[in-house]
Amino acid sequence: MTETLLEKNRAGWNAVAHHFNGQDALPGYGPFAQTEDELQLFGDIMNKKVLDIGFGSGHSLRYMAKKGAAELWGVDFSEEQKETAEITLQDYPANLFCAPMEKEIGLPKAYFDYVYSIYAIGWTTDLSTTFELIYAYLKDGGTFIFSWDHPLYPHLKSEDGRIYMHASYQEEGMLHFENFKGENKSMGFQRRKMSTYLNALIKAGFTIERVVESDVPATLADTEPEVSDKYYSLYKAKRFPAAMIIKAVKK
Ligand SMILES: C[S@@+](CC[C@H](N)C(=O)[O-])C[C@H]1O[C@@H](n2cnc3c(N)ncnc32)[C@H](O)[C@@H]1O
Repeated sequence: MTETLLEKNRAGWNAVAHHFNGQDALPGYGPFAQTEDELQLFGDIMNKKVLDIGFGSGHSLRYMAKKGAAELWGVDFSEEQKETAEITLQDYPANLFCAPMEKEIGLPKAYFDYVYSIYAIGWTTDLSTTFELIYAYLKDGGTFIFSWDHPLYPHLKSEDGRIYMHASYQEEGMLHFENFKGENKSMGFQRRKMSTYLNALIKAGFTIERVVESDVPATLADTEPEVSDKYYSLYKAKRFPAAMIIKAVKK
């Protein structure tokens, strides 16, 4: 069942990849969220070894390269994304692996200063194994930072600007898409509560250092938004955090 879902999602991501070229990449943490320039969650990247989980179009890794990272590594299960990332990173040597984040593929253990993931972790079919692997990849003292939709956000629907709660936050069921980005592909991921993410980090051995429930970036703080019922909108993000951004360390 999990294999089937992984396969469907991989085929889906191959089809939708072109919609995400350069989207959801550092210094951004996600739609209508503050950026790394504002939050300063990473320390100095100079000479650090970094691993990107769900590297997508490779723009976050390119950001790391420009900050002086010593080694760029990444995992993403989409061949299409890997091809795009190779173009984005053509001026920088990078070790890119086409594989699911929830699988052991022999990446070096106790090796990385930073493992990070921008808007990809929620797609995992096995959160515990994914966090355990990430913990193993990090050196002692290494840092894991990830961003994803705030767990309550998918439950907030908007109708003529009135935001209301849809379905149950208590039920961590699957969220299915049959037409993600209009590409007629069947994909899906598990809805999880905030506590599920935090407890899975703790169970994997992490110490949680910071939890950000995003606000809008400073550049949009004074913009009066138009009423919008879109899934991501400034209107909604000014009322409720679009993203959660979590920093955890291996002590
Ligand atoms: C929104 S994109 C991330 C964008 C990326 N942060 C960037 O800098 O371009 C989500 C990525 O997660 C990848 N992905 C989804 N599920 C995955 C899984 N189970 N294992 C590995 N990669 C996965 C997709 O192929 C996609 O590239």
